[in-house]
Amino acid sequence: MRKILKLALQGEQTNRIPFWFMRQAGRYLPEYRKLRKTAGGFLDMCYNPDFATEVTLQPLRRFDMDGAILFSDILVTPHALGQDVSFVPNKGPVLEPIKRANDVIFNEDQFHTHLSPVYKTLDNLSKELQADKTLIGFAGAPFTVATYMIEGGSSKDFGKIKSWMYRDESEFQNLIDTLVQSTSSYLIKQIDHGADVIQIFDSWASALTPAHFDRFVIAPTKQIIANIRKHHPDTPIIGFPKGVGSKYVRYIEQTGVSAVSFDHSLGLDFVKAELQSKVPVQGGLDNAALLAGGTSMLNEATRIVETLKSAPFVFNLGHGVIKETPPEHVAELSEYLKSVVLK
Ligand code: CP3
Repeated sequence: MRKILKLALQGEQTNRIPFWFMRQAGRYLPEYRKLRKTAGGFLDMCYNPDFATEVTLQPLRRFDMDGAILFSDILVTPHALGQDVSFVPNKGPVLEPIKRANDVIFNEDQFHTHLSPVYKTLDNLSKELQADKTLIGFAGAPFTVATYMIEGGSSKDFGKIKSWMYRDESEFQNLIDTLVQSTSSYLIKQIDHGADVIQIFDSWASALTPAHFDRFVIAPTKQIIANIRKHHPDTPIIGFPKGVGSKYVRYIEQTGVSAVSFDHSLGLDFVKAELQSKVPVQGGLDNAALLAGGTSMLNEATRIVETLKSAPFVFNLGHGVIKETPPEHVAELSEYLKSVVLK
C-alpha cells in the first residue's frame, strides 16, 4: 500500500491529491468533546496513550484523510523541560514564565521519561493505522515555544520575549539552543516510534524582523533538521513558518526543509512560482472558508487545487480547524478532494 501523503512530500507526483487538516482532531467533533469530558484535563489526555490514540483516529474514521497527526500539543516540550504548564478552559495555555535561560535544563533521560506516553501513542498508532495512511509527528519550533515559555501564555504583542531578545541576545540564544537540542531529540524519538513525516510549527515567526528571523527561526530550524537527518535521512520534514510572506523563500533555501505548509495570506501564483518550484507545498485553504462551508468553500478549494495540482502538493488549511466548524463541512470538502483525479 502506498502512503501517498508521504510520497507527495518526497516529491512524487501522485494520482490523487493527498489531504489532511491541521487540528483535524479536536473540539469541533462531538466524539472528541465526549471523550474529553472523561479524560480530566487536556494534558491528561495528551499523556494517556489510549485516549490520545483514539482521538488521533477519530477524524480518519469520519473523513478518511490520508494522514493522522499525533494528538498532543507543542507545549509538552517546555513541560518536559520542567516548566509548569496547564490548560485553563476558555483561556488556553498558562505557564509559569521563565526569567532566564537556565530556568529550564535539558536532562535527556528525564525529558524522554516525561514524554514516554507520547512515544507509546505513536507505537499504538503505527500498529493501528491502515498501511496507506501517513503518521505525522510534530513539535513547535524554538521561537514559537519560547513565546509561551516567556510570555506565560498566548500573547498579542510579544513584548516580554522580544524585549528580552533585544536586551540580551546571547542569553536568549542560550534558551533557543536548549530548545534546539531538546526538540531535535524529541523529533528523532518520534520517528523511532513510527512517525512517517514530521511537521515543525512556527506559528509566531511573523512577529520577527528579518534579522531576528534569520537568527531565531531559520538558524534553529536548520540545526534541528540537520540533527534529525543524521538519524533519519529520508523522513520528510514540513516547516510551517506561518504568516512570514516573502520570507518563505529564504526559509526554504536556507533551512533544508523537505516541504512547507503555507497559510492563506499568500497569493497562489506566488506559492506556485516561488515555493512549489523549490519544494512540495502543503496548504492553504482559509480555515474560515471551511467554517462557512457550501459553494464558497468549494470554489476556493477548487481554485487552490487547479493552481497547484501539476506539481507535488498536499491539500490542507492555512491554520487549524476552528472549533465552531460543522463536521458536515469537513465531510463535504473531503469528498470533493477524493473526487479530483490527477492522471
Ligand atoms: O489535530 C491536530 O492538529 C493535532 C494536535 C495539535 C493540538 N495543538 C491539539 C490541541 C497540534 C498540532 C497543536 C499545535 C499547537 N498548539 C500550536 C501550533 C499550531 C497553531 O495553532 O498555531 C500552538 C500555538 C499550540 C498551543 C495551544 N494549544 C494553544 C494556544 C491552545 C489553546 C487555544 C485553543 O484552541 O484552545 C492549545 C490547546 C489545544 N491544542 C487544543 C487542542 C485540540 C484544545 C484543547 C481542548 O480540548 O480544550
